[in-house]
Amino acid sequence: MSDSAIENLYSEARVFPPPEEFARQANVSDPAVYEEADEDWQGWWEQHARALRWMRDWDATVEWSPPHVKWFVGGQLNVSDNCLDRHIDEGHGDQVAFHWEGEPGDARDLTYRELRDEVARFANALKGLGVGKGDPVTIYLPMIPELPVAMLACARIGAPHSVIFAGFSSQSVVDRVEDADSHVLITADGAYRKGNVVALKDNADKAMNMTDLIETCVVVGRTGEDVAWTEGRDHWYHELIEGQSPDCPPEPMDAEDVLYILYTSGTTGKPKGIVHTTGGYLTQVAVTHRLVFDLKAESDVYWCAADIGWVTGHSYIVYGPLANRATSVMYEGAPDHPGKDRFWEIVEKYGVSILYTAPTAIRAFMKWGSEHPEAHDLSTLRLLGSVGEPINPEAWMWYHEHIGGGRAPVVDTWWQTETGGIMITPLPGITATKPGSAMTPFPGVKAVVVDEEGKAVPPGGGGYLTLQRPWPGMLRTLWGDDERYQQTYWSRFGPEIYFAGDGAKLDEDGHIWLLGRVDDVMNVSGHRISTTEVESALVDHPLVAEAAVTGRSDPMTGQAIAAFVTLRGDRKGDDALAAELREHVSERIGKIARPANLLFTDDLPKTRSGKIMRRLLKDIAEGRELGDVTTLANADIVSQIEASSKEE
Ligand code: WT7
Repeated sequence: MSDSAIENLYSEARVFPPPEEFARQANVSDPAVYEEADEDWQGWWEQHARALRWMRDWDATVEWSPPHVKWFVGGQLNVSDNCLDRHIDEGHGDQVAFHWEGEPGDARDLTYRELRDEVARFANALKGLGVGKGDPVTIYLPMIPELPVAMLACARIGAPHSVIFAGFSSQSVVDRVEDADSHVLITADGAYRKGNVVALKDNADKAMNMTDLIETCVVVGRTGEDVAWTEGRDHWYHELIEGQSPDCPPEPMDAEDVLYILYTSGTTGKPKGIVHTTGGYLTQVAVTHRLVFDLKAESDVYWCAADIGWVTGHSYIVYGPLANRATSVMYEGAPDHPGKDRFWEIVEKYGVSILYTAPTAIRAFMKWGSEHPEAHDLSTLRLLGSVGEPINPEAWMWYHEHIGGGRAPVVDTWWQTETGGIMITPLPGITATKPGSAMTPFPGVKAVVVDEEGKAVPPGGGGYLTLQRPWPGMLRTLWGDDERYQQTYWSRFGPEIYFAGDGAKLDEDGHIWLLGRVDDVMNVSGHRISTTEVESALVDHPLVAEAAVTGRSDPMTGQAIAAFVTLRGDRKGDDALAAELREHVSERIGKIARPANLLFTDDLPKTRSGKIMRRLLKDIAEGRELGDVTTLANADIVSQIEASSKEE
């Protein structure tokens, strides 16, 4: 965020108390909940763990030997049992779990019973393919019902899943398959995106040609493309589940058994495998989903418009909502296909009452114009959520007025892949919200903004966001790399303090304003991409000698990727090569990592010890005034880069 944007945040004086009518019916309406949870944070989480169905009670609530934690030690449960069977046993088998809406306009409703039966069939099929407890299964699927089915089938038999966003490249699949040592891949023939078909099985085949780890590939038929087929390895999903029994007893899992691995970008080129376990994770996603979104299982229609390929979808499309017996909308495609009112058409069609989306989407809707939401009946909406990046007050206000009709509270929720669930957020029946602020830690969470030395800053101060007490949905380690786990999160301020990597400020009332990453991680449209990852992808191209990448602020996507590239030999850069390099990054990582700007330069600004001055490049990319550059080894290159950057 630019300095002036940050200044604007603090002049934000608008406050929106919960509408009386909303507060009266809210799941939490007594602010005493904060004190209660603070006094006995273990008891607070434990009370919510009790809402789940356990097969064996736990012996200890928390074991905290910093920086490693265990929750509900000795307890046993199964996530798929809690998300499906429990509700059926309580008489809700006919309630719709998902109103699934395909991008081309096809639709399918799945009740809790239908979902359980399909999950059990597929779980039996996986067993038949030799998948057992503890075997990591890679899932590379678009937003179709078989995606949550596959995740829940894994959870049912105790196989950790590793979901890879369908927009990722085959190289990304290889990296993740190898890191997880996974032998099973679940994919689809194709995926619909903006009316086009993405050849997903093709990507998967490319990946399987680059690694010999995958022995079994399950293919869901979605688009009906012709696909290449490897006999013995490839199996059609529909053939596999045909004739399988819908009876598959859920495997009793220890609270600390791994539920899933989800890869996310860090400050190096190698993605980190975030490890989430069973009991604590399910507890946190369930209670946050129920209290932050004020969910009423009987009457709400809840829609989280994220992709399940990211943690938002894991926690708030699949596990949280299903644990709470929500009726959800799940949408396959793009927000502007076939028209720019597709979201509002869906809200009207299903009577959506709770909507959870990202600031980048909200800013796109603003740009497309309020006539699109105005053309639809959005009166069922009663609560709006935001996640993924700081929401600027203008977008917050537009969301509140044009989507929420001025009556629906807006909850800006801060959390990360690592935290598993929401950590900083308003509670909609209690909190008087300020546009642009995530406000307060969720009850039981201890979030502290600290200075360089790790000292808590007073109201009005700014610094780094830390978490100073373990929470149940916390990542347990990085898959296969506990050293990096300790180094990344628990070394900056010591092993008892979690360093989130975000800058934050406290306002005079002690409310938290998130300011974006303080490390080499960019946030593009709410997605985390590391500068190093993009640099490695560029340098991997035979013509590239050196590359430096930085995020610059962008009015639509939050940040956009700016790349500075020097070429080998006397090769001169031109538009065609720039396009080729962008495409190269897209192939290596995925479309989301494609640089918005790519500038060829004869050299990169370096310190005398040879370090690339990324901060300077950031200032150039942002069009900021540059300070003193005379300490650089090659100061003259700066003016050259500056000049060509302005030409762009
Ligand atoms: C990073 C985590 C959590 C699901 C989506 C992203 C940024 C996330 C907010 C928010 C300001 C936010 C942070 C964080 N972020 N939500 N409400 N306000 N910033 O998950 O890919 O793990 O990224 O997203 O910078 O560290 P993720």
